Amino acid sequence: MNASLPFIIELRDVSKRFGSHTAIDHLSMEVREGETVALLGQTGAGKSTVMSLLMGTASADEGTVLVAGADPSRDFVALRGKLSVSFQTDRLLPWRTAQENVELGLLLLNRSKAEARERAREWLARVKLGDAGHKYPSELSGGMRQRVSLARALAVDPALVLLDESFSQLDHVTSQTLRRDFAEIVREQRKTCVFVTHRIEDALEIADRVLVLAAPARVCLELSIDAEQRIDAACMARMHRQIERAIGGDASAGEDDGISTNTTKTQH
Ligand SMILES: Nc1ncnc2c1ncn2[C@@H]1O[C@H](COP(=O)(O)OP(=O)(O)OP(=O)(O)O)[C@@H](O)[C@H]1O
Ligand SMILES: [Mg+2]
Repeated sequence: MNASLPFIIELRDVSKRFGSHTAIDHLSMEVREGETVALLGQTGAGKSTVMSLLMGTASADEGTVLVAGADPSRDFVALRGKLSVSFQTDRLLPWRTAQENVELGLLLLNRSKAEARERAREWLARVKLGDAGHKYPSELSGGMRQRVSLARALAVDPALVLLDESFSQLDHVTSQTLRRDFAEIVREQRKTCVFVTHRIEDALEIADRVLVLAAPARVCLELSIDAEQRIDAACMARMHRQIERAIGGDASAGEDDGISTNTTKTQH
């Protein structure tokens, strides 16, 4: 990743508590423009809490959260249209067609109806739903609904895309196809993206960088993956094992078999 590109996300020494429970403990992480980062970790590790901080739906108790230079829990206006989110459930509006669902984000940003229509058409075609724009969510399969949701998230041309396990509720074949398409779109468009997944394969297939979080959320393993490594099956298998061990709580996971680009972060 080009170190001269600006940070889109900066978390500095961030802590977040829910009552007496510490969900995030002095977490620091950055994401540069155009980078795709996967967040992994056991259930309860704090992945969704990190996403809430990035979306601005929760605020940190300590530390600094910056998204595109703004505090997402305060500077709503600065971040309008810069940040797009897709969730586990597709959250489509049932009374709007696929086309109208994709248009909505653009209309909310005061784009003209004609532009919204055009861009929604473009994006539906890009997620291979060019002929389904007139259908309502109830007439679409789960995979198709996820594609609409993805099109809606990307059509506004956000600076940052956040995805929290968007593909996990789909059958294996559908989710695999969707993941491939998603990876392709993210790479082709050079979108900055942070996605949460429980699937190590997804992370290795899509991300430039993988962060494994351990509860309370801190980075216990950080791996960078480049195109060369991605086609090296032995290297991928090593990284897979390493991530698996880190998720399982093995503190030595970062010291695995000589993968040159990895670093292990220990924060206090
Ligand atoms: N609103 C809340 N109120 C109280 N505790 C919360 C709240 N949100 C999260 N937590 C707690 O914070 C911790 C981190 O939760 P979080 O949802 O971020 O985990 P996660 O890594 O996303 O887990 P999963 O993989 O199951 O989605 C958990 O112990 C959870 O119980
Ligand atoms: Mg979660």
